[in-house]
Amino acid sequence: DKPLRIGIAGLGTVGVGVVRIVRKHAKLLEDRAGRKIEIAAVSARSRDKDRGVDISHYDWEDDPVAMARRDDVDVLVELMGGSDGPAKAAVEAAIAAGKHVVTANKALLAHHGQALALAAEKSGSVLRFEAAVAGGIPVIKALTEGLAGNEITRVMGVMNGTCNYILTRMEATHQGYNALFEEAHKLGYLEADPQLDVGGIDAGHKLSLLSSIAFGTQVDFDAVELEGIEQIELQDIEEAAEMGYRIKLLGVAQMTGRGLEQRMSPCLVPAASPLGQLEGGTNMVVIEGDAIGQVVLRGPGAGEGPTASAVMGDVIDLARGLSIPTFGIPAAKLTAARPAKAVVP
Ligand code: NDP
Ligand code: HSE
Repeated sequence: DKPLRIGIAGLGTVGVGVVRIVRKHAKLLEDRAGRKIEIAAVSARSRDKDRGVDISHYDWEDDPVAMARRDDVDVLVELMGGSDGPAKAAVEAAIAAGKHVVTANKALLAHHGQALALAAEKSGSVLRFEAAVAGGIPVIKALTEGLAGNEITRVMGVMNGTCNYILTRMEATHQGYNALFEEAHKLGYLEADPQLDVGGIDAGHKLSLLSSIAFGTQVDFDAVELEGIEQIELQDIEEAAEMGYRIKLLGVAQMTGRGLEQRMSPCLVPAASPLGQLEGGTNMVVIEGDAIGQVVLRGPGAGEGPTASAVMGDVIDLARGLSIPTFGIPAAKLTAARPAKAVVP
């Protein structure tokens, strides 16, 4: 079989991780995919930056859109980030050219997921995004494949590692939110716009993507009721602990009589429960289905290796010829999400 040739747009934390896996595991990937997986071209803002990995063998493209259109690129791997701008332009260009796309970009999909999924199906592209939700945890595959025989009744979880880090460090060090925000900042945990993390927006993006797959609804980020962690005080955390609870930024999505409810907010969870035992930057997603009961998935929600691991899982699926609709069912069949808050008088 012909090799599958990928073009990587974005050579930051995750892009470099993907390059490392392709170089380190060439034989393993070929055995698993049934064909070689090769990097045809790479793109980023700065050509001269030392990225700690040898990219001299790959063609360089200044323009990610041009890379997406190259004849020798079968799959665009979009790892630049941002809900609009070059990421959106490159993904749209790849889809228009009938190429497959793998992305870790939850912001892009939370805002444009439905339009991109429709466009992909029209052009025969496959659009995959395992890395966009809970980093290395294969939660999209769990929902679209392993649990596909279930009616999903609820999805919930801790999906922003930075917030969980700040909250668990407040408990451990008895320092206030501001001090731990600064600590997370110094460690490089926060997004370029920290409000995405601490405002619950990043986690809300992820919840909106999981909801779509779980409930067969169009991605509707605007319907997620959002509250971040900035208002949490040390006293809240200590009083919760006295009662046997911990505070987590918890996302919950469930179908109710009034429609789809999606909420991302600080919640009290019993300290002895799986969610209550979650430490630091770890993520956890709990899925409930009519046949399976409850499944708990736990693991690293961010970082070079875990996120690149999820990206490569999608690339291997494409090399194998696996074609699953972006949100589990054809995009035209996804129904409008009906947030409860829109119908409550
Ligand atoms: P980084 O900021 O580390 O890297 C972004 C890369 O994109 C850089 O190489 C940058 O180029 C390149 N880039 C940015 N803008 C442009 C542009 N206009 N044209 C060309 N290249 C551009 O991001 P991450 O690797 O951390 O994240 C990538 C994606 O993965 C994001 O969507 C993020 O939300 C998602 N993600 C990240 C996780 C993580 O743990 N980091 C976890 C899960 C998802 P240059 O290097 O030259 O500046
Ligand atoms: N800022 C995100 C987090 C990165 O802290 O979870 C992974 O999506």
